[in-house]
Formats: sequence, structure tokens, C-alpha cells
Amino acid sequence: MNPDQISHDLKSILLTEEQIQAKIRELAAEVEKDYEGRDLLLVGVLKGAIMVMADFARALNRHVEMDWVAYSSYGSGTRSSGVVRILKDLDTDITDRHVLIVEDIVDTGLTLSWLVANLRSRGPASVEICTLLRKPEATRMSVPVKYVGFDIPDEFVVGYGLDYAEKYRNLRCVGTLAPHVYQTSG
Ligand code: XMP
Ligand code: MG
Repeated sequence: MNPDQISHDLKSILLTEEQIQAKIRELAAEVEKDYEGRDLLLVGVLKGAIMVMADFARALNRHVEMDWVAYSSYGSGTRSSGVVRILKDLDTDITDRHVLIVEDIVDTGLTLSWLVANLRSRGPASVEICTLLRKPEATRMSVPVKYVGFDIPDEFVVGYGLDYAEKYRNLRCVGTLAPHVYQTSG
């Protein structure tokens, strides 16, 4: 399938590759300044954050370490419940480390709040969150998100790591899906 065929499945493009890359450079500059003189461990949340992590880490003009977590949240349908099962834990001991969680999207923030509490219990120097996208409900989250790329409407989006049935992660843009996609994949 070539990229044109993939974009045929999109109803609209919410964020172009250029907009995303410009924002990532902005976030990286902010993080560089905030963490000057301190070590930094980026923790990516699999699988959605792979693209953000790859571009964000390379936009940082400083040393960083990268680690990954994967968890599944038990939820009804598309909504997460905040009840979490760890599929892959950190390889790194984060005691006294400055941890920056790298996320693709924060929706309700339930699973992310759980992750922050879980990481904080391990005695890190600090835990902050950087997300490319944030949906409106996330503003009610108890845990503040320090670095936000874009506030987007409450619509299901795909691309740049975000999937529908594991597809569309490899799109360079972020967009919404055309109705025919939902109709044919049953
Ligand atoms: P909560 O609600 O805990 O869940 O913040 C965040 C996770 O829900 C998924 N999610 C989406 N995935 N398009 C996606 O492909 C979306 O529009 C979307 N909204 C939420 C995603 O896994 C995220 O990490
Ligand atoms: Mg995610």
C-alpha cells in the first residue's frame, strides 16, 4: 500500500508533518532549557509514542537515555478505565533520576495518572509528562501535563504512532478516518 492509498482513508488532516515537526522542535527547546545541567531519562509509552519519541529525542541537542513501558488498560470499548496491567516494565532503575514520560496522546489521562503514581513510588528525582496531543477531557486530570504539543478536539485520530486496529501508525500526519474505513473493517 503506498502513502496515497493510506491518505485516501483519511477524512481530514488535523496536523501536517510540518506542523508536527515544528512543534516537536519547540518542545525540545523548552525541555533542553528546563533540564539544563540535569540528567534526563525519556520514558516512552508503547506503542503509540514511538514516532514522537524518535523525533523528540533527536530534536534534543543533549544526552538523554531512553526506556519504554507498555501497559494495557482494561476499559469498555474505546474508553480506558484506569485499571492497568504492565506488559513491559522499565529496564532502568529510576531512583534519583529525572524522568520525562513521552506520550502520543492524553485522553482521560486515567492510565497516565496511574503510570505517574507508579513511577513516583520508585523514588525518582522528578516525573513530568510530555505529550504531543491532548484531548479536552485531559484538562480535568489530577496530574498536570507539563509539555503539550497540541490541544485537539474530542475526535478519534490516527497517524504518527496512533492506530486504528494497529494500522495508520506510519502516517507522517495526524488525521481523522473516513467513514468507509469503519464500515469495511467491521
Ligand atoms: P487515557 O484515556 O487514559 O487513554 O488518557 C489514552 C490512550 O487512549 C488511546 N487513545 C487514542 N488512540 N486515537 C488513538 O489512536 C485517539 O484519538 C485516541 N484517544 C485515546 C491511546 O492509546 C492513548 O494512549
Ligand atoms: Mg498511548
